[in-house]
Amino acid sequence: MRSLLPIAAEGVDLEASYAVAADVPWHVRVSFISSADGAVTVDGRAGGLGSAGDRRVFALLRDLSDVIVVGAGTARAEGYAAPRPTGRRLDRRRRHGLPDAPTLALVSERLAFDPEGGLFPDDEPRTVVITSGASPPERRAEVARHADVLVCGAAAVDLVAAAAALRDRGLSRVHCEGGPQLFATALRARVVDELCLTLAPLLTGPGADRIVAGVGLPAPAQMVLDHVLEEDGYLFLRYQLLHS
Ligand SMILES: NC(=O)c1ccc[n+]([C@@H]2O[C@H](COP(=O)([O-])OP(=O)(O)OC[C@H]3O[C@@H](n4cnc5c(N)ncnc54)[C@H](OP(=O)(O)O)[C@@H]3O)[C@@H](O)[C@H]2O)c1
Repeated sequence: MRSLLPIAAEGVDLEASYAVAADVPWHVRVSFISSADGAVTVDGRAGGLGSAGDRRVFALLRDLSDVIVVGAGTARAEGYAAPRPTGRRLDRRRRHGLPDAPTLALVSERLAFDPEGGLFPDDEPRTVVITSGASPPERRAEVARHADVLVCGAAAVDLVAAAAALRDRGLSRVHCEGGPQLFATALRARVVDELCLTLAPLLTGPGADRIVAGVGLPAPAQMVLDHVLEEDGYLFLRYQLLHS
């Protein structure tokens, strides 16, 4: 059913609005925020597009996931660290029967990470790095000291194999946080089930990427709209991808 409701409206249960049915064995959700003219960044970061409502929805999508998958470009640009929820967010995860913290999974070919940053904490869950057999062996060995390295594909990362590897680890609720290059390859591999897109009431001009960048798509990917919620002029769109 479609709706256009304020996200804080009486009767809107945000958790229920983004729930994935318990009998769905495996689910890949991608989320982005974009300006009304299609930009995914302002001055190289997504933060300039955001709002309080977007941060609430983004936090919820994280809290409903077993694993956060992100491309190395986004992890670098946005200064990622492995999340360790506390307080109400930890309570929410426990209420949904999820592990206390989602696993962080980084997708990279070059493996140019700072091992001293927050990407590779000493505690559990250990960060996962998804790469291919073409990545530099010495960097792979170095990263393996700090993270679980999954080699998926020989010459390039095979995202179908990566999805299977995550599923084998019991990580069946995937929240992919981009970026645009990773999303493009995920669409090509047809591993995406859902897109949650925040449309910001901003026009930012040319220059920035769109939510899909890098490699092209063989054909437009078709989607069905689940819902539209609204706050402060921001639209929160939940789409399901159609796999024909
Ligand atoms: N508005 C939003 O919601 C949003 C969301 C996410 C990101 N962003 C913005 O997007 C920008 C980053 O864009 P991006 O396209 O560079 O992001 P990206 O897809 O996160 O990063 C690209 C890099 O990630 C690795 N990668 C991605 N897909 C791969 C694949 N299929 N196989 C192997 N490696 C893969 C490669 O890393 P290596 O170079 O290490 O091999 C590649 O160079 C940042 O400015 C960020 O702020 C915006």
